[in-house]
Amino acid sequence: MLEWNQALSVGIEGIDLQHRYFVDLIGRLSVELEGEDPAYRTRLINELGSYAQLHFVCEENLMYKLGFPGLENHRKSHRALLEKLNGQIGLYLVDLLDAGEITDSLASWLVHHISTEDREIGVFVNQVELQ
Ligand SMILES: [Fe+2]
Ligand SMILES: [Fe+2]
Repeated sequence: MLEWNQALSVGIEGIDLQHRYFVDLIGRLSVELEGEDPAYRTRLINELGSYAQLHFVCEENLMYKLGFPGLENHRKSHRALLEKLNGQIGLYLVDLLDAGEITDSLASWLVHHISTEDREIGVFVNQVELQ
């Protein structure tokens, strides 16, 4: 199961806090996959969709404010993920997709995205601060 660890830090406290929540939420949903409360599982899945959207808006606004040059490409990655996630949630809601597929694909996307694209924001912030 995905757990937060320091290797996932991008060096920006606010972003790290949101990633932690994101990772925790995926973990809570993973625990509920075998749970006996499908209504709670659906609630968590809806929270996941909303939180992903909120987190991406926060990150994009930060990049905008920083003048980060990779904003457009980064935004495209966020949009692609949201499209995929919303599609998966739609299929889950009509019983055509197992919730475990949502947690698995989102967890691996998130770790990869944090370690590459999100980390670039932290590198950029540190460069700006050193100037
Ligand atoms: Fe992020
Ligand atoms: Fe991001």
